[in-house]
Amino acid sequence: MVDQTGAYAYNSWWQFRADSWSRLEEATGRIVTALRRTKPVDNSMTDAVHAQCAALAPLEQFWAFPGHAAFGVVQELAAAGAWERLGRLVARINRALVTESYRIGSFDDIAQGEHRDDSEDLIVSTSHHDPFSRPYFEVLVVETMSPKQEQRLREEVHTWRRPGDRFIYDLVVVGSGVEAAVAMRLNANIQACVIRRRFAHAALRDLSSLADFADAALADDLADHSPEERAEILAPRLAQIRPEVDLYLMTDIAVEDVAGKVSHHFRRVFHAREGALELHLTILAGVAARYRTPFFEALRAYSQRPTGVFHALPISQGKSIVNSHWIRDMVGFYGLDIFLAETSATTGGLDSLLEPTGPLRDAQQLAAEAFGSRQTYFVTNGTSTANKIVAQALLAPGDIVLVDRNCHQSHHYGLMLAGAEVCYLDAYPLNEYSMYGAVPLSEIKSKLLAMRTAGKLDRVKLLMLTNCTFDGIVYDVGRVMEECLAIKPDLVFLWDEAWFAFARFHHVYRARTAMEAARALAEKLRSSEYRAQYEASLPRDDSTAALINNRLSPDPARARVRAYSTQSTHKTLTSLRQGSMIHVYDQDFALRVAEGFREAYMAHTSTSPNYQILVSLDLGRRQAALEGFELVQRQLEYAMKLRDAIDHHPLLSKYMHCLSTAEMIPERYRASGIAQPLRTGLSNMVTAWEQDEFVLDPSRVTVYIGLTGIDGATFKHKRLMDRFGIQINKTSRNTVLFMTNIGTTRSSVAYLIEVLVSIARDIDLHTSEMNLAERAVFERSVTHLTNPTAPLPHFSGFHPAFLIESDPPTPEGDVRKAFFLSYDHTLCEYLLADEVEEKMEAGESVVSATFVTPYPPGFPVLVPGQVFSDEILSFMRSLDTPEIHGYQPGIGYRVYTSKALEIVAERPSS
Ligand SMILES: Cc1ncc(COP(=O)(O)O)c(C=O)c1O
Repeated sequence: MVDQTGAYAYNSWWQFRADSWSRLEEATGRIVTALRRTKPVDNSMTDAVHAQCAALAPLEQFWAFPGHAAFGVVQELAAAGAWERLGRLVARINRALVTESYRIGSFDDIAQGEHRDDSEDLIVSTSHHDPFSRPYFEVLVVETMSPKQEQRLREEVHTWRRPGDRFIYDLVVVGSGVEAAVAMRLNANIQACVIRRRFAHAALRDLSSLADFADAALADDLADHSPEERAEILAPRLAQIRPEVDLYLMTDIAVEDVAGKVSHHFRRVFHAREGALELHLTILAGVAARYRTPFFEALRAYSQRPTGVFHALPISQGKSIVNSHWIRDMVGFYGLDIFLAETSATTGGLDSLLEPTGPLRDAQQLAAEAFGSRQTYFVTNGTSTANKIVAQALLAPGDIVLVDRNCHQSHHYGLMLAGAEVCYLDAYPLNEYSMYGAVPLSEIKSKLLAMRTAGKLDRVKLLMLTNCTFDGIVYDVGRVMEECLAIKPDLVFLWDEAWFAFARFHHVYRARTAMEAARALAEKLRSSEYRAQYEASLPRDDSTAALINNRLSPDPARARVRAYSTQSTHKTLTSLRQGSMIHVYDQDFALRVAEGFREAYMAHTSTSPNYQILVSLDLGRRQAALEGFELVQRQLEYAMKLRDAIDHHPLLSKYMHCLSTAEMIPERYRASGIAQPLRTGLSNMVTAWEQDEFVLDPSRVTVYIGLTGIDGATFKHKRLMDRFGIQINKTSRNTVLFMTNIGTTRSSVAYLIEVLVSIARDIDLHTSEMNLAERAVFERSVTHLTNPTAPLPHFSGFHPAFLIESDPPTPEGDVRKAFFLSYDHTLCEYLLADEVEEKMEAGESVVSATFVTPYPPGFPVLVPGQVFSDEILSFMRSLDTPEIHGYQPGIGYRVYTSKALEIVAERPSS
């Protein structure tokens, strides 16, 4: 959607709105200056003012500040050509918006001041200034009201304010269900919503400019229903957009009956006449519940108590530092508070991570509510440990696991420790960029069905996938679980969401998170409509071909929803390094997992967990629950601005471009056919995210740099880091990945663009001055980087010595046996690539004794027990990455001797 001034709102309108107010100030300022200098004011100048007013008109009703009244005055002054007064008013409003001082001031004064025309000093009137600087939010009221009624309600709410209130709020009033949904999407300040008795189904105003944010079907769904039915329809629709927002119902008919019928959608139901003050207090209490950070509060209180330290933590309360002659600068740098908070106490108001019963248990419970899980566990050693905990909790030796071979190394090590039999899945390759996509559903189903044919399906326990991948490929989590459960109704899923903790806080992303997909699936399986539909579809064709080719539905009587998600909170939300969470939505958790989970958690968790990490998880959750929506919207908007700036820049676009969804996800996985979902409008993003097998997380921007002639690693280290101090952590041969996050600012995006332009300018200058020989070298580099090298190798298979026998054979291997055999160094030798090749040519199998992981791209090309293939050798030869874990240049690959393979073939499986 393009506005008159060329600004483009991909995902949110706050940026557009902020820009429009600034432009309005500028446009009015220009007129005022001209008038003061007695210069002529031409039509183009006044048109600019009117254009900005028109751009803001459909938006302003959705924010409490400056509010209807003040914006009405702005429009009146603009229409009347009262430029001086308009200039003053707009400047004050804009300043209050930019500095966010409206959060601690009063808005009504701004408009009233203008009417009185004595308003110069009423920007933030001290009589209304909130001296407590309390956090501010807005409450959405859904009711058809006249401006007078609305004003009265506002004034009434103001009279309820007390100095002891912990928060301060103001009202946004909309008259229809459709506008309520728009307000929820647009206004991140909204933390609570009160649905009152009378509201229209459709908007009375023209919302066509906000079509992306309006729920087209909602007006029809609400029409022809009684007020109570409308509230019942509207509430879940609003909860779908912002599940964290507290919903209240205010009714003036039999409140007891209504409460019985619809209360599950609402935090509370109130009677209109009696409930106003109670509602006010409940609204504050609702926000306070999310604001609560039990472990932070406990640790802060503890740190303020004088205690004698006679346990093994000399740094506690800074004791070993403050009296030191040599490390006192540590206190200078960090401040004393962090040391006052260093403790390992588990009593005295604190709690034990290994057996939480107090504030840590409460903090984890609040995290479960915020992230939509049934149980949440804090982990202080990153998702690397979280993954090992879940694998060990769910698996016993001999259980079969299906796992993306391209997963994080923690899964490989976790499966080895758990003694699982591993069946690797191949993701689709993106050979042009030397990176993998994600694992197609057809690959997962065919491996599951192979297990069924071999009579091993009962031993298949777990499917592990990365959602989203490092490069931003996101699964259709719900569909994967549905179709797999149709084949194996008790299959458990571990979704590695190391990069995806933020996704819950955006309404489009949320549906593709493990916890939300699990909740939605459980609800679907419970519904009578689904059961009837399932019964009607029976009998189904159970042949392997039909099961692979058809969309499958699980049997609601047998399927169990059992999903786990591991998230590096520290990667995408606020947390100190290593702060991660395990979220559980497992219908069989209490019965089948709880005990094993406790043991696994103990096995991998330090008995001295870092309390600062735990506190940061508690605070990170508070932030996500109260402002995650705003921060993620902002992040996405900046990511799209970054994409635009790169792709539309005449010099940058000569050498680089941002890879689009269509370039990273082959057409066969995109049923919607939309090549650039968010870029072509939020509604296209919604469609693609509903329909496509894979989608691309737009917050991760992979930039193709093949035409610069500089490879990814050099670009990262020598250009971005050494010269400009810009850190990134993923490159491929010809791409660099720029990740935006909730801390990304407009200025940091601008700086990155500046840096990229500077790099491109250097290249441009350099190429323009090249002699023939230099040009030939440059062109060779470009050709090398822009032409595919050896294709990414698929998993070649385990050597038969490590395979689990079956008829017909299946591909899973005993990774523990393959790993530990290498501890006997007499069974291993080192071979150079040529020697490996010679052996293979002589018909011998060469088997890796270790993981071999080139970085980039960062996936293991070989795992212990895996046979070398021609494909692997040529891929390794084509690599120009200096860092290959598990491979020593000059010595070669660590492989098993043929004697080792003979010995192991005779030993029973581990
Ligand atoms: C997919 C994936 N899972 C897990 C991890 C490990 O997470 P952490 O750094 O929190 O230990 C990473 C780290 O990059 C990862 O990319």
